[in-house]
Order: sequence, then structure tokens, then C-alpha cells
Amino acid sequence: MNEIATHTKETLAKIEATPPAQGATMKGVPFEARDVVRIGFIGLGGRGFGVLKEVLAVEGARIVAWHDPNEAQVRQASECVTGAGHPLPASETDWRGLCERADVDLVYVCTPWDLHVPCALHAMECGKHVAVEVPAATTLADCWRLVDTSERTRRHCVMLENCCYGATELMVLNIVRAGLLGTITHGEAAYIHDLREILLADRGEGLWRREPHKLRNGNLYPTHGLGPVAWYMNIHQGDRFTRLVSMSSLPAALAEYRDANLPSEDPKRGEIYRCGDMNVSLLQTALGRTVVLQHDVVTPRPYSRINLIQGSQGAFCDYPPRIFLNGQKEHEWKSLDHLKADYEHPLWKKYGETALKLGGHGGMDFIMNSRLIQTIRRGQPPDMDVYDAAAWSAPGPLSEISVAENSMPLPFPDFTRGRWKAEGAASKSRISKTFAD
Ligand SMILES: NC(=O)c1ccc[n+]([C@@H]2O[C@H](COP(=O)([O-])OP(=O)(O)OC[C@H]3O[C@@H](n4cnc5c(N)ncnc54)[C@H](O)[C@@H]3O)[C@@H](O)[C@H]2O)c1
Repeated sequence: MNEIATHTKETLAKIEATPPAQGATMKGVPFEARDVVRIGFIGLGGRGFGVLKEVLAVEGARIVAWHDPNEAQVRQASECVTGAGHPLPASETDWRGLCERADVDLVYVCTPWDLHVPCALHAMECGKHVAVEVPAATTLADCWRLVDTSERTRRHCVMLENCCYGATELMVLNIVRAGLLGTITHGEAAYIHDLREILLADRGEGLWRREPHKLRNGNLYPTHGLGPVAWYMNIHQGDRFTRLVSMSSLPAALAEYRDANLPSEDPKRGEIYRCGDMNVSLLQTALGRTVVLQHDVVTPRPYSRINLIQGSQGAFCDYPPRIFLNGQKEHEWKSLDHLKADYEHPLWKKYGETALKLGGHGGMDFIMNSRLIQTIRRGQPPDMDVYDAAAWSAPGPLSEISVAENSMPLPFPDFTRGRWKAEGAASKSRISKTFAD
């Protein structure tokens, strides 16, 4: 009994410990304005190549260098860049060298998860802003490393959480900000995506993304669902996550799929997957809101991020998008169509056509990338900063700890070190005019 109590105390103390700050906050800190943003890419695989194509179409973006150890990926990217009439970027022999180049302003990190933090830290140490794929980090120590390095080097670390920029998500953000849903009380978010075939493939993500299923048990991919809900809830602009508790189901579907589809001599047949098929976490915020966060990437089931936001005057729920406002006919959702004229987000009004033509994840990728490059060119603060990257990634390790500790409720680190409260106009910045054009 005593042993358990001591162990629990140590776990909680470790999570609650806030390391001393190494620099001033990066909240609200603007980029230094520049006409042309010179970009280096680390990782040109499925995601890196997709993002590269979007960035090529953004005004003021110039891709100057890249690195990927896979020559076929570099060849594919080269053909794409020259085909689009752009000069061929320099091919670096490693990611450190790419970060060290004098002619790079912004480094995109589109690699397997274990390289996100080393690349992001080195890029910032070399004086570059960094845009890192999701999740930014997979341990709490690494979340803090990103925060501390960003504050000390005065460089931004932006996590590329494209789902925040979906047409539906930005319209719902407008609806929430306009007060249609009343006082926001609850959200539900998820990453439910059947990745069994991809996880077991002998190429692409199959080469690295199955490994965490052998080693970890929790929410391996929290940010796609949580990011948009965090925006609806004004997280870090007046609220913050304060605690988390998590539970995992047993693992079953990935091993069953493997055994049904791979020959008996395939070495993957010997693998043991620890990660529960469904992980459910409950988060609470400082203002008393609740969030249900789910993760399931191995079960046969249609894709969903749930994307539900509940207020005192109504609720929105996605997949398919529908809304219920106080006074509406009882028990009947309505589509969002009748609200589009008034609440479509200005970014989608202006860039929606181009975004849809390029098509990355229904256009959200172009909106995110063009918006990031636009904020740099104009010398504005980023929409998503290092505190968002850390807090949206943290349910990964926190859920693992909670599950391992018999679903113990855990404190949620305050990566902002107390600066999560609304700072005047900042709380409305995401629908302000500057966000609009
Ligand atoms: N935001 C999104 O919608 C989205 C979608 C898919 C993937 N992702 C994220 O993007 C990242 C990459 O995923 P992916 O699907 O492109 O995987 P992938 O396996 O297709 O590509 C990874 C690439 O990284 C390269 N790489 C490996 N080691 C490297 C090194 N040392 N230096 C440089 N490059 C190296 C590989 O050669 C490969 O080309 C992951 O973090 C993933 O979670 C995000």
C-alpha cells in the first residue's frame, strides 16, 4: 500500500514539475517580417511530398534545400519542383546540415515521429523557425524541451496541425466565437482511422509507425482531434487543460488482421502489439470544461475525428457536420448549410477555390501552409505556437502514464507557465481581420 502511494506521489511530482524558464514567453511574439520565406524540408515521404506540393503554390515561399535519405523520394520531389517551373533545391546529405544552412528561414520536419524533436531542436538552435509534423513530441520531457528551446532561441516551433484549418472547423470556430452555442462546456475529439494495411506494409509508414504499437499503450496520435476543439475552447487564450485520465481497451484488431492477411513466414507474425485498440481519455480545463478524446487506428470503422463542441445554447457534431441550436425542433440536427453565408471563415472565402484544387486533405493543407507563410511574411505571430504543440501532443505520454497506472487521474502540465489567460485582443485573434485576408 505504502509502496503504491510513494510510487504514485513520484509520478505526479514528475508530471507537475515545471522546469525553470530559459527565456521569455513566445506567446504573441511576431515573426520578423520578410518578403520571401526560404524553406528547407526534412523528409519527403508521403506527408513531406504532399506538403511540398502545397507550399510550392504559396506566394512568397521558396524551397531552397531538402534532405531525405531515400533517393526515390528526392527524385520524385525533384521532378515535381522542376515540373512546376521552380529551381531545384539543394540536396543536403543530412538534416543537421540542412538546419545549419545560412539561406534557410523555416524548416519543415516531415519525418517519422522519433526525429521530430531532434530536428526541431537543432533547427531552432541554428536560428530557424520550425514547422513540425504531428505529434510534435511523444514524451513530456520532449514537450518541455521544445518549449524551453523556443523560448531561449526566440524561434517559433509551430506544429502542422492541419485539421484546425478545415472548412468545417474554421466555420465552427466562427460560430463558437459569435456565441451561437452559448457558454462552451464540453468537447469530443478523436482520431479514428483504419490504418491496418498501412501499418503492416513494407514501405512508407509501415516501416516505422507499427513500432509504437509494440511499445506504447495509450493515445499515439492525439492532435488531429484535439487541435480544433482546443481552438473552440480558447485553450491558451483564456483556458488550459488541467488534468487527464485515460483507459485503453485490449488490443485485438491489428494482430487479427495481420494473421488473416500475411503469410505465416512473415516476421511480423511474431510481433506483439501492446497498444489497446481504443484509447479513451478525459480531459478537464481550468474553466471546468470537459473533453473526451479517443484514439483507434486499427479497427474496421469509417474515419472520424468526431469534432463535437457543446455549449449552453447548442451543439455541433461532425461526420456528417450538423448543428443543434436552442429552440430547434426537438431531437433533429440541421446541416450547416444555412449558416454558411454568415459564418464561412474568411480564409476559406478567399482561398477556398485554390485549396480545393490542390486538394490536400480537402483543402485544409493549403489553407494551413499559406496561412503560416503569410504570417511570416507579414511579421505576425503564428496561429499555433510551441505551447499548443506541447499541450496538444502531451495527451500521448499522459495517456500512457495514466493507463499504466490503472487509469490514475494526472495533472496536465502548464507549458505556458501561467500565461494561458486571455491577453486582450489576443483571445479574438483567430477571427480578426488579419486572420481574414
Ligand atoms: N498532418 C497530417 O495530415 C499528416 C498526414 C500523414 C502523416 N503525418 C505525419 O507526417 C510525418 C511523416 O509521415 P509520412 O506519412 O510522410 O511517413 P513516410 O514514411 O511516408 O515518410 C517519412 C519520410 O521521412 C524520411 N526520413 C527517414 N529518416 C530521415 C532522416 N534521418 N532525415 C530525413 N528524412 C528521413 C523517409 O525516407 C521518408 O521519406 C509523421 O510525423 C506523420 O505523423 C501527418
